[in-house]
Amino acid sequence: MWVANVVALCLLVVAMAYGEEAKLSSHATTLADNSASLAFNLYHNMAKEKDLDNILISPVVVASSLGLVALGGKASTASQVKTVLSADKVKDDQLHAGLSELLTEVSNSTARNVTWKISGRLYGPSSVNFADDFVKSSKKHYNYEHSKINFRDKRSAVKSINEWAAKSTDGKLPEVTKDVDKTDGAMIVNAMFFKPHWDEKFHHKMVDDRVFLVSRSFTISIPMMHRTGLYKFHEDTDNKLFVLSMPLAHKKSSMILIMPYHVEPLERLEKLLTHKQLDAWLGKMEERAVAVSLPKVSLEVSHDLQKHLGELGLTEAVDKSKADLSNISGKKDLYLSNVFHASAIELDTEGNPFDTSIYGSEKLRNPKLFYADHPFIFLVKDNKTNSILYIGRLVRPKGDKMRDEL
Ligand SMILES: *[C@@H]1O[C@H](CO)[C@@H](O)[C@H](O)[C@H]1NC(C)=O
Ligand SMILES: *[C@@H]1O[C@H](CO)[C@@H](O)[C@H](O)[C@H]1NC(C)=O
Ligand SMILES: *[C@@H]1O[C@H](CO)[C@@H](O)[C@H](O)[C@H]1NC(C)=O
Ligand SMILES: *[C@@H]1O[C@H](CO)[C@@H](O)[C@H](O)[C@H]1NC(C)=O
Repeated sequence: MWVANVVALCLLVVAMAYGEEAKLSSHATTLADNSASLAFNLYHNMAKEKDLDNILISPVVVASSLGLVALGGKASTASQVKTVLSADKVKDDQLHAGLSELLTEVSNSTARNVTWKISGRLYGPSSVNFADDFVKSSKKHYNYEHSKINFRDKRSAVKSINEWAAKSTDGKLPEVTKDVDKTDGAMIVNAMFFKPHWDEKFHHKMVDDRVFLVSRSFTISIPMMHRTGLYKFHEDTDNKLFVLSMPLAHKKSSMILIMPYHVEPLERLEKLLTHKQLDAWLGKMEERAVAVSLPKVSLEVSHDLQKHLGELGLTEAVDKSKADLSNISGKKDLYLSNVFHASAIELDTEGNPFDTSIYGSEKLRNPKLFYADHPFIFLVKDNKTNSILYIGRLVRPKGDKMRDEL
C-alpha cells in the first residue's frame, strides 16, 4: 500500500514535471459526461415553463446537489439519484468522490483564472437533528454547511437565507427567493457567482449603449461591448443561426453562444438543442474574424429545481410520503421540499491582453458579425473535463424599458 502510494506520487510528480496535468479519475470522467446530459434534460424541462424568461443553471453544481441527496438518502430514494445521473453502476463512494473531484477541478480559481464562488447549504426544520456522519461527509465531499431554520417567522427565515446568499457571493446575488411555500422539509440552497475572464479582453472603452430586442415590440437599453478578433464560428444556414465560441482565459473552457439570425422566441432553437447537435455544431466551427458585440450585463437568476428534478426521475426524495432521507437525521422525518439554485453571472470586458500583432492584418478582414442584441442561448463548456459549467439563456437583460408598442 505504502509502496503503491509512493509509486503513484512519483508518477504524478513526473507527469507534472513534464507539464502534463493530472487526469480525472474514470468515475469523475463518467460523471462529467453524465452531468452534461443532465444539463440538456433539465434545460428542456425548465424551458417548458410559461413566463420564465432567463435561465441559468450549473449542471455540475446540480449534480453535486444530487450527490448530497444520495448521501442523505437510503434505498430507492438514494438509488434514484444515480438513475437521474445515468450512473446506476457507479458505487456510492465513487459517486461522491467523483462528483467532488469534478467540482474541485472546474472551480479551481488558480488553475483556471476564473472567479467562481459556489456555496451550498442544507436547511432543515427546527425539529431536525443532523447526524454527525452526514454533516462530516457532506462537508467533505460537497462543501455543504447545515442550518436549522424556523419558519414560524417566515419573513425572517426568508431574509436569513437571502442574507446568507448575499454574503457568500460578496453581494453579487442579493436574493434567492421572495417566499418559501413548503416549509416542512429539507431545503437545498446553492448560491453562486461566476465571472468569465476572457482569453482576449474587450477594450474597456469599446462599450456603448445599445438596444436589446426582447421581442420585435419590446426593447431595453443596455451597455454593449464590442471587439473584433479570431474566434471559432459557425453559421448554420439551414437553421438560420450562428454559433460562436469564446475561450476563457485559461483556455480550459469556453463560452458558447447560439443565436438566431433575427429576434424570435427561442423555442425553435431549443427544439434543436441536444448534446449531439451541440457537438455537431462545434465540429463544424472554423476559426475566422468575427466582430462580436455582447451585452455587458450581469444576470441574476434563481430557480427552484425541486419540481424539475422530480420530473426527471427523482420522484421519491421530493415526495413527503415516500422519501427516505434518514441518513441525514437518523429518522425518516425529511423530504426534499426545495432546491434553490441561484447564480449571478457577470459579463464584463475583463480578460487577458489581446494580441495586437494581428491588427491591420489580412486575418481580420471581412469579419462575420455576431451582434447579440436579441435573445440567445449560452453554455460554458469545459474542454478538459467535457462537463458543462453553465447552460442558460438571456432573454431579458436588466435595463430601462424603451418601447412597448403592442
Ligand atoms: C446510510 O446509512 C446506512 C445505515 O445506517 C449506512 O450503511 C450507509 O453507509 C449510509 N449511507 C451513506 C451514504 O452514508
Ligand atoms: C488548483 O490548481 C493549482 C494549480 O494548478 C494547484 O496547485 C492546486 O492544488 C489546485 N487546488 C485544488 C484545491 O485542487
Ligand atoms: C486572472 O489572471 C489575471 C492576469 O494574470 C489576474 O490579474 C486576475 O486576478 C486573475 N483572475 C483570477 C480570478 O484568478
Ligand atoms: C480542447 O482541447 C483539445 C485537445 O486538447 C484542443 O484540440 C481543442 O482546440 C480545445 N478546444 C477549445 C475550444 O479550446
